[in-house]
Amino acid sequence: MSKSEIGLIGLGTMGAALALNIAEKGFPVAVWNRTSAKTRSFVETAGDLAHNIAPTETLEQLVDTLRPPRAIILMVPAGAVVDEQIAALSPLMSPGDMIIDAGNANFHDTNRRAASGGDVGFLGIGVSGGEDGARHGPSIMAGGDPGLWERIAPIMRAISADFEGTPCAAYMGPQGAGHFVKTVHNGIEYADMQMIAETYGLMRDGMGMPAGDIAKVFERWNAGRLKSYLVEISGIVAGTMDAATGGPLLDVIVDAAGQKGTGRWTAIEAQHLAAPVPVIDAAVVARNLSSRRAERAAAQARFGAAPQPLRGAISEAEMEQALTAGKILCYSQGFAMIGRASAEYGWNIDLPEVARVWRAGCIIRSAMLDDMAEALARAPDRELMMAPYFAAGLAETHTALRKVVAASVLNGHAVPALSAGLAYFDAMRTARGTANMIQGQRDYFGLHGFARLDTGEDGQHGPWAG
Ligand SMILES: NC(=O)c1ccc[n+]([C@@H]2O[C@H](COP(=O)([O-])OP(=O)(O)OC[C@H]3O[C@@H](n4cnc5c(N)ncnc54)[C@H](OP(=O)(O)O)[C@@H]3O)[C@@H](O)[C@H]2O)c1
Repeated sequence: MSKSEIGLIGLGTMGAALALNIAEKGFPVAVWNRTSAKTRSFVETAGDLAHNIAPTETLEQLVDTLRPPRAIILMVPAGAVVDEQIAALSPLMSPGDMIIDAGNANFHDTNRRAASGGDVGFLGIGVSGGEDGARHGPSIMAGGDPGLWERIAPIMRAISADFEGTPCAAYMGPQGAGHFVKTVHNGIEYADMQMIAETYGLMRDGMGMPAGDIAKVFERWNAGRLKSYLVEISGIVAGTMDAATGGPLLDVIVDAAGQKGTGRWTAIEAQHLAAPVPVIDAAVVARNLSSRRAERAAAQARFGAAPQPLRGAISEAEMEQALTAGKILCYSQGFAMIGRASAEYGWNIDLPEVARVWRAGCIIRSAMLDDMAEALARAPDRELMMAPYFAAGLAETHTALRKVVAASVLNGHAVPALSAGLAYFDAMRTARGTANMIQGQRDYFGLHGFARLDTGEDGQHGPWAG
């Protein structure tokens, strides 16, 4: 076999799917896995694609199998494993070669790795779309040296999802910009999922709807402006029956959500950047709270169950509008956060490009993202909720969001993400806020000073200052 174009380490869920995708697009790929048995069984089951896959048993063999300058993708768990693999590979590689971390790295780690010097280049790319995306076309967000990206871009564009002829693979910026964008993508994913789950709860606990009926509602929503992968799969999940019980599978799934940390990273970085993303924050908190099942059961026993029947207080159409408003607000916050990071770190991230690579392949793909790409292209610095198309969408839907949140609050349904969206919306359209009281308090106890509205003078103190 001639030399392979690219190498891949880690034949787990994502790595195996990505390797098959690369081979299918006509690029010979050499693979290595810590457990060699997995490498062998992977190639044995690769069928027609096996001729484009070179299995290797050692890292030396992997490196030797590649055409210089070499490029090796790491698809292993984020964190220490990536550092271990870089340390093991680097001495075997040559100047001009590159290592590409395609896992869900923390962007601070990617910054560190990109800055660590050495002759071997380093790229951090975020890959979204789960196993199916990796196999048939993920969304790819690259960060690092633009020259390194250009070298592997033909392969990345070929394997990525396609949105009406445009590949969903793009360069986001230097250092950890790609992994940062992927992190915010995941934060938005948490928020989208949480808001959908909140409407599911209203239908289940407030309207007494069986899962099968709820599935049909999601199907209807997926035919409208909420059309998205997550609404689509929510309908499928709600409509799936359990072979063991004969009832809806959803009804026997434990209500404790797992997480691998990217949502939490988004919330933490947002705080560092002073970029408010309250809908994402609420979604992360909700996942944490979901895990406290014993405490929730104890509190329900002590105070009584919270959710009460909604008795027609809200309609299906109003929930759809509330979800639409929540989504606009959440994405507005997410894009603003990326813009803030781009300015802070000097990354020069092209926000419309971010929206464009999210239009297909990734978990948050939706019809709305195409409109977002267009709105951001017109005015990248304008907050999305102020773009005419989305401002009109919010104007049309925010009353329903308020009605849904109000009915939920009055009837004991926790809707933290939708509530956070509404509070953000209200705070953002309050020109005269209440922080004058906070400034007064700060001056009272700490002489921090305040600015006067009437004279414009800064550093003023109240008469309480001694
Ligand atoms: N799953 C998803 O939907 C998804 C989506 C986007 C991004 N990601 C990211 O992609 C990366 C891989 O995820 P995955 O779901 O494919 O994981 P996975 O199925 O658990 O596979 C992990 C791979 O890493 C290898 N590995 C684990 N520890 C290692 C070590 N100490 N040294 C060398 N190799 C080691 C494993 O080898 P063995 O076979 O020897 O155990 C396996 O090949 C992660 O960063 C993840 O966050 C995952």
